[in-house]
Amino acid sequence: MIITIDGPVASGKSTAARNLARLLGFDHLDSGAIYRSLALMAMRESIEAGDECAVADMMERAAIIIDDETVRLCGEDVTDEIRLPEVTRAVTPLAENPAVRAFVHRMERAMASGGDIVVEGRDMGTVVFPDADLKFYITSSDEERARRRWEELRQRDTPQDFETVLAELRARDTADMTREIAPLRKPEGAVVIDSTGWSADETLEKLRSIVTERLGGRL
Ligand code: CDP
Repeated sequence: MIITIDGPVASGKSTAARNLARLLGFDHLDSGAIYRSLALMAMRESIEAGDECAVADMMERAAIIIDDETVRLCGEDVTDEIRLPEVTRAVTPLAENPAVRAFVHRMERAMASGGDIVVEGRDMGTVVFPDADLKFYITSSDEERARRRWEELRQRDTPQDFETVLAELRARDTADMTREIAPLRKPEGAVVIDSTGWSADETLEKLRSIVTERLGGRL
């Protein structure tokens, strides 16, 4: 069974996806971690997102393994490093490159072929898994999402001021929603969840009740 969760920056989809997967005993795939790992590699090697040959060569060498919540790039644990603000900024142009998206889509489908999984990202329900068993689109207000990201950055020792976080979040949402290929949008048939003002537990409870209602007999 495949459950997709799409949504904008810091919408709470990662926490929701992780918690839901745990609750159901499903695997969990954070597709953003793959794009982030490629962005980190490109940054380290000073590769331009539009340099087709250099990007193709880089992808050939990019051994990305996501095991539980640990992300490894060519054997190195990059779980924390891929969350650095400079990596976040480097993702946008790379995620617009069709060859990169095709590469990541192949990886995602291979990772999901093993069994029951909760996959999260921007194009999970629209492009990568259009036939998913259940689709969610999670969002919340810009201010709340910025507050969550601001707090996360503070806890990771990479603090940024609130206005910068809010402006960057809005700019990345616009880029994700307006790019030509696989833009972020609400998948057809998706259950829309606005988690503004909700705790992670409240969001999980809402997802759980919908999963039980829609997939109950098959779980
Ligand atoms: O955690 P946050 O919402 O900041 O982002 P993420 O899920 O880690 O994704 C980082 C970036 O990767 C997004 O802004 C997108 O540009 C790109 N991405 C994508 O294009 N498609 C996906 N399925 C997942 C991420």
